[in-house]
Amino acid sequence: MIVERLHLNSYRNIEDASLEFSERFNFITGRNAQGKTNLLEAIHIFSLGRSFRTRRSSELIRFGCDHFFLRLTGRSDSGVEFKLEMGQEKSGRTKLSINGKQMNGVSEILGFMPSVIFTPRDVELSSGPPAGRRVYLDYTAAQVSPGFLADLKEYRQVLKQRNSLLRAAAAGGVFDEAQLGVWDEALAGKGGAVVKGRIEMLEVISERAREIFDEVLGRDDGLKLAYRCSYDPDAGGEDSLRAALLAARESERRRGYTLAGPHYDDVIMEIAGEDVRRFASQGRKRLLAVVLKLAQADVIMARRGERPVVLLDDIFSELDPGVVSGVRKMLSDRYQSFITSPRGEDFPGDISGASRYEVENGVFSAPEGPPKAS
Ligand SMILES: Nc1ncnc2c1ncn2[C@@H]1O[C@H](COP(=O)(O)OP(=O)(O)OP(=O)(O)O)[C@@H](O)[C@H]1O
Ligand SMILES: [Mg+2]
Repeated sequence: MIVERLHLNSYRNIEDASLEFSERFNFITGRNAQGKTNLLEAIHIFSLGRSFRTRRSSELIRFGCDHFFLRLTGRSDSGVEFKLEMGQEKSGRTKLSINGKQMNGVSEILGFMPSVIFTPRDVELSSGPPAGRRVYLDYTAAQVSPGFLADLKEYRQVLKQRNSLLRAAAAGGVFDEAQLGVWDEALAGKGGAVVKGRIEMLEVISERAREIFDEVLGRDDGLKLAYRCSYDPDAGGEDSLRAALLAARESERRRGYTLAGPHYDDVIMEIAGEDVRRFASQGRKRLLAVVLKLAQADVIMARRGERPVVLLDDIFSELDPGVVSGVRKMLSDRYQSFITSPRGEDFPGDISGASRYEVENGVFSAPEGPPKAS
């Protein structure tokens, strides 16, 4: 997909802006706290249905104003034009329309405009808590497989209900073992499906990530990603989860929540045989996170037949110049990308098909370079 234009009104620190984008590189520079991330957020909001930075959409309204409004126009890879609008009055709900048709809720936009986003927080993807790696895997699988998304939602639902039963028992209420047995069955079934879907997804991602990693570095650095199932080293599926739940029965009853399932699983990452979490440098962790996002984009494109929009917020700090040009080469000709940096020198002037915007206090300069997505 290509984002052709974005109109922003009273959004964050942006009073009013109408921007046209290049269908290849869009570089956004400016000092800290001027509005670079705000612009990426305003594009990404049409992909996720909400901001990636906050769940409180009233925070998006410019201070002192009573509403915000965004209009994004673009076209699919097959050339179909579309128009997306989102807005909110101060005390109202967020409203969304697709091609002029009002949606019932913002989540209806999920899946319409695929995108991948790298934010500085993602540096922690490889070395932070396991939840980040599960979210990465689940988000990718959900974008390409509606079946996986349905399994995941049902799993979460069952987990919630099972936990509330256990919580009541632990607090001294009745322990309804028959009801728990029903939840065990549902949890084992859906949990097994989630693990299977994740493992399949990780196989595809890890192959692509390894290729990208080697290409950017110009050598084989032995990147390995492996699924670690918390309750069964062989990730045997439904039966082993059922057995793990039975084995945990007494502790669950005491502690009041579910102690086995894919919500404890992890992805192990290694570079040249070393655990990334413990040994990788800061620059390698950043590169690995960027590579994982690029692999995500490739998987989405291969499975969906639609190119995701690539949003990269401040990716270049800590990366050496060779790696920076390797990443730029990977993006070139593949995706429309939006890349921010407080350092103008991260974007050499001779990149073809690139537009450069400078933002100061929410005001964007007219772009240099080809402004228009034709
Ligand atoms: N609702 C709002 N109304 C007005 N201004 C806002 C609002 N929300 C955030 N801001 C302002 O937006 C600015 C931050 O913008 P943004 O996060 O895009 O900065 P940035 O250019 O990405 O900076 P950095 O280089 O530090 O990442 C801050 O000055 C903040 O006060
Ligand atoms: Mg920023």
